Amino acid sequence: MNLLIKNANMIDAYESFCGDILIIDGIITEIGKEINKEGIDIIDAKGLTLMPSFIDTHAHFRDPGLTYKEDMESGSRAAAKGGYTGVCLMGNTNPICSTKEVVEYVRNKAKEIGLIDVHQCVSITENFGGKSIEHLNAFDDDKELVAITDDGVGVMDSSIMMKAMEKAKKNNWIVMSHAEDKTFSKIDMRIAEDLMTIRDLYLAKVTKARLHMAHVSTIESIEAIRRAKKEGSNVTCEVTPHHIALTTEESNYRVNPPIREKEDVNAIIEGIKDGTVDCIGTDHAPHTEEDKAKGSPGMVGIETAFSICYTELVKKNGISINKLSELMSRNPAKILGMNKGSITIGKDGDLVLVDLNKEIVIDKEKFASKGKNTPFHGRKYFGEVIMTIKGGKLIYSI
Ligand code: DOR
Repeated sequence: MNLLIKNANMIDAYESFCGDILIIDGIITEIGKEINKEGIDIIDAKGLTLMPSFIDTHAHFRDPGLTYKEDMESGSRAAAKGGYTGVCLMGNTNPICSTKEVVEYVRNKAKEIGLIDVHQCVSITENFGGKSIEHLNAFDDDKELVAITDDGVGVMDSSIMMKAMEKAKKNNWIVMSHAEDKTFSKIDMRIAEDLMTIRDLYLAKVTKARLHMAHVSTIESIEAIRRAKKEGSNVTCEVTPHHIALTTEESNYRVNPPIREKEDVNAIIEGIKDGTVDCIGTDHAPHTEEDKAKGSPGMVGIETAFSICYTELVKKNGISINKLSELMSRNPAKILGMNKGSITIGKDGDLVLVDLNKEIVIDKEKFASKGKNTPFHGRKYFGEVIMTIKGGKLIYSI
């Protein structure tokens, strides 16, 4: 697809530049002033900010098997509405993503719908059983596989986790850790997260595997990751918009890991400032009202992530918009190996136009997601996604 965007205030992790951008055959081919081209679609972006589209390292689209909560189509539309053109999907579907068959089903469905790029994670242990990693052999020659994770459950057996890391190291897969020691889940969710974080960092150090810590939420885990990075471990981490925006003082919304204390939020913000935190992962976790009432943890987040992060980080905490772009686009694209995430010639023409001055009220009834489970309904934030462009093609417009 070809597209010319004019008069945009362009911002990415490195630069801020006002001008025009030309996308030819889906790729950014020219950036400059006064670009003119006949016979292609033109968008006048005057007054708006153009950023690389967002990439989510952590989302649940529930397809196959739990499509009453979300499916590939509704999840893709929700992503596009949130300014995202790439997602990394967790494997706690039904059946669980432990076989080629299920993973191929997801990939094909994502391509059929064709709105966004999807990386489907494979489970670390077969069917989240915690015991066997034999099924991973079937993925040895899978060129598309990027990450393995038992997200939602975690891997309790340390020797199994170590074997999985050794295997991942050989295949250059990322091991994504849902850090929760289940033996502590009913006793102390802080210890549950911190123990597993420390264990997985240690195992990554020993095995030299690429480790990505999902939804990091405590001061101690941030500190442990900071130390591991200083020691040279191959570790990255994500934080969620809800662990940035909420504290236990104002919300007891059920999510896993739980909403934490003010000190934890401050540690996350410090971690963002000093580079300990690599990216934002939404942990978009759609559930029905009935499932929430029965206790399912999680909230939707892919449609609200930008407004929440822009308001909390840039407006309230003095983090630059370039840094936000690094967290939401550049670093996630780098981690997942996608040719996106910056406004640079040769990158995919995946962009998002946002209005930074617009104040919005979050309205769950307007979500494209099937999930309406959010504690943010009715809250006011700054920044609205106006258009999402993938490969020069409009995939969402307000
Ligand atoms: O709150 C959560 N919900 N945390 C998880 O790790 C899993 C997720 C889900 O799948 O609903």
